[in-house]
Amino acid sequence: MSTAFGDALRAFARATGWALLILAASMLLFTASAQTATTISSTDAPVLWWAGRSSGFVAYLALWLSMLFGTLASAKSTLLDRKLTMELHRQWSLAAVIATVAHIVLLVVNEHSELSWLSSVVPFTAERLTGATAVGVFALWGLVLVEATSLLQRRVPYGAWRAIHGLAFGTMLLALVHSVMAGTDTSVLAVRALYAVTAAILGGAIAGRATSAVLGATRRRPAPSAA
Ligand code: HEM
Repeated sequence: MSTAFGDALRAFARATGWALLILAASMLLFTASAQTATTISSTDAPVLWWAGRSSGFVAYLALWLSMLFGTLASAKSTLLDRKLTMELHRQWSLAAVIATVAHIVLLVVNEHSELSWLSSVVPFTAERLTGATAVGVFALWGLVLVEATSLLQRRVPYGAWRAIHGLAFGTMLLALVHSVMAGTDTSVLAVRALYAVTAAILGGAIAGRATSAVLGATRRRPAPSAA
């Protein structure tokens, strides 16, 4: 990859990372002000409802991008700049955590969603969409565990870090199942297509990575010596 192209991609990665952070922060700020603004709290607060759902999509796509770049980085292909894919992997993971927190806060402060703070962290305590929300809570805890151990990577033994990092695959799957089950917008064809296409691309990337790892291990194995 040429340096100029790599530099441009890196600048793009930084800009999108910051844009997402700013988006998530503004959603939180908006929520805080919306709570105090009587004009909004006295209505059905449709803006909060819209923001709660759209932040779910931001969280899902950020997690998907993080998984995709993590898979590409681990492939150690000479066609890709590993430093860049790792940077994208880290930035999108952080963005996924921030967007998920925003998603939860926006849903809980909206009284029409009937979600409590407790039900956003303890599975099977939500009165509405109990199962679908519980799957989201499991995804949340998976995300927190993977992100926390990565931020503290130097203090966590390598074997433990690797085992916990492997939970990211389950977390992504739970996030997808939750999004499909809980989402009002799952009935929209374009949204169903989004889930299908993202799942197919990531599934393909993971299968390709696993196949090349198996083939690499077979090639490295020494040939049995003749008796
Ligand atoms: C990794 C974590 C999570 C991701 C990626 C995620 C993503 C999503 C997505 C994409 C939707 C669909 C929005 C729509 O179709 O309009 C959604 C809906 C929903 N999420 Fe999450 N979510 C996560 C965690 C959580 C948690 C922890 C809770 C608990 C508070 C939660 C509660 C809900 C609820 C109640 C809905 C339904 C909203 C509706 O009725 O449309 N989510 N989520």
